[in-house]
Amino acid sequence: MEKVTKPHKPQEKAHIYTEGINYFETNENSILGKGDRDTLKFLKATRIDGIWLNLAAGDGRYNTDLLKKADVVIASDIDKSALSKLFYCTPNRYKPKLKMKAFNIVKRFPFKDGMFDGIFCTGVLHLFPKTVFKRIAKEMDRVLRSGGTIILDFAVDIRRTAPDGRAVGSESRYKLKEAETLLKDVFSDYKIKMIKSNVDNSNEGNPPYRFQCNYILLDAVKPTGLFISARRTSARTRSPRTALLC
Ligand SMILES: C[S@@+](CC[C@H](N)C(=O)[O-])C[C@H]1O[C@@H](n2cnc3c(N)ncnc32)[C@H](O)[C@@H]1O
Repeated sequence: MEKVTKPHKPQEKAHIYTEGINYFETNENSILGKGDRDTLKFLKATRIDGIWLNLAAGDGRYNTDLLKKADVVIASDIDKSALSKLFYCTPNRYKPKLKMKAFNIVKRFPFKDGMFDGIFCTGVLHLFPKTVFKRIAKEMDRVLRSGGTIILDFAVDIRRTAPDGRAVGSESRYKLKEAETLLKDVFSDYKIKMIKSNVDNSNEGNPPYRFQCNYILLDAVKPTGLFISARRTSARTRSPRTALLC
């Protein structure tokens, strides 16, 4: 994988919320830290196997946790600089299970219907307006197999405060109740569980700020159809690498 150091510029009007940084100027940890405690706890306790898509994976805050359990993880992001840091920082023993794909999640995903056993997406979906979020969720549903799992987080009530108490950055798009209703509506066919948690971190931004939010962690299982097709049955028994090529 080539080392991409050119920052990917954000274009908020086109729903591209990149950080605009050269990830190779950051240290080997994710720019977002170690991961939120309840998400890490949930990942540890949850069954994850087969082929997983880490959607908008960034520089890989949770990617190694997925790689430890899944057979294959496709890490995706629009920002090739983030993805190449993710690749370089992945321990060598997990690299054979790691694939990368750069794409814009507001467009059609570059994958076949039903090809994933699971989709993981954190730290980004709360940024999109409802109509765009619904389009993304539709694509997630298209590429997820029947019985597959979606794990996502959705941040609400976001506050960034400078050391002098001033608010930094723009207001949160969603409040808790509104996000809960949206998720229930979008995944109404799925069997869902919601865990509510919160984050309170000090970030070394410029200027440094305190980041606080509540978030919903959603675990959503896609209903299985009446018939399990021959193709699906065999995809389960094929090696994940072969399954990826079909
Ligand atoms: C706050 S980071 C979260 C990264 C990672 N999922 C995590 O939880 O640590 C948001 C990520 O979404 C990516 N992103 C933003 N807009 C995107 C888009 N339209 N298509 C694909 N990725 C996008 C950014 O490049 C960034 O890596």
